[in-house]
Amino acid sequence: MHNKSRITRRDALKLAGAGAAVAAFPFARPAIAQGAPLKVGLLLPYSGTFAALGDAITNAMDLYVKQQGGKLGGRTIQWVKVDDESKPERAVENTSKLVEGEKVDVLIGTVHSGVAMAMAKIAREAGLPTLIPNAGANALTRSQCAKNIFRTSFGNSQPGVAAGKAMIDAGIKTAVTYTWGYAAGEESVEGFKQSFLAGGGKILKEVRLPFPNVEFQAGLAEIASLKPQAVYSFYAGGGALKYMKDYAAAGLNKSVQLWGPGFLTDGVEKAAGEAGNGVKTASHYVDTLDNAENKKFRADYNAAFKKFPDVYAVQGWDTTHLLDIGLKAVGGDVSKKDDLFKAMRNAKFNSPRGPFRLSASQNPIHNFYLRELKNGENVFVKVAATDVSDPTTGCSLA
Ligand code: PHB
Repeated sequence: MHNKSRITRRDALKLAGAGAAVAAFPFARPAIAQGAPLKVGLLLPYSGTFAALGDAITNAMDLYVKQQGGKLGGRTIQWVKVDDESKPERAVENTSKLVEGEKVDVLIGTVHSGVAMAMAKIAREAGLPTLIPNAGANALTRSQCAKNIFRTSFGNSQPGVAAGKAMIDAGIKTAVTYTWGYAAGEESVEGFKQSFLAGGGKILKEVRLPFPNVEFQAGLAEIASLKPQAVYSFYAGGGALKYMKDYAAAGLNKSVQLWGPGFLTDGVEKAAGEAGNGVKTASHYVDTLDNAENKKFRADYNAAFKKFPDVYAVQGWDTTHLLDIGLKAVGGDVSKKDDLFKAMRNAKFNSPRGPFRLSASQNPIHNFYLRELKNGENVFVKVAATDVSDPTTGCSLA
């Protein structure tokens, strides 16, 4: 089994190169022999601001497969990895390496919404079984939904809606939004606005920064002069860490509450140190969730990787869990697409995040939790909402 738990940028590029080499011989693919490995393409960021997110997803998927003896549905799993660098402008080329070059049987990707939109278009046209372990672009499970595309993470608006409601409940009346200006940030803010405005909140200004820019100073100065009660921000990975540090260095953490989706703190809560204290977030996961799956997952992940999992790892875990359910239903034969997709669509299981099932557009229905970052730990505050489904607007899979 080609199955490494740590992927360096060099490995990813090497594999990308291998993909390109295969592309030159499109007819070289052998017929699927019984027992032949199932090629699973991983289009994920292994470099750039989201590198740690790609690693966490990959680690958890690898752990899941290893715990099943290296096989899902009787098929040995062969990962084929391509580093997408979270670059939308390279998304078509990188997806094609896996779909046309490597002729993968299953595609898993990715983290960045812009990359995922381009990936999904190719996957939809190819009818390839595809699982999205992070990217939240709303359209993927609204107008652009497809029978072969499953999301195991969230829709971008979902945490925003939960946070906006929690902010109203906390008595906040005025806010400024400050986010990366691409699909994930825009849709996160759109979700936040829905519930915050409906609750009578007022938005003083919407400030944006192009992805993956981390020069936060100008926006922070604007916030200081506008003096809102709170700020709502979408940043993630390395960018989120720098943001929390800059926010605190500007002294804003003393006077303006910082709120966001969980991504603002996930995976960087320890590194943020004191700068992160008091940051409040809404997420579909909290480290301390008291359920058996979470406890086992956290212990096993820590034993394997010498660190504890974050929300991205949970999403990776659920991705392989969902795939496993589908593959078992068809005895590992992915050509039985109707049965494969039906089993996945109807899957219902206990995730480390809590109960997990899919909506009619194949996006998770799950709980949202309010957390507060205290001394490097996202502390559970309360369940913000249960069984939350994103609207399936524009999607019909009947
Ligand atoms: C996205 O681009 O959809 C995205 C990226 C990172 C996150 C969440 C969403 O943490």
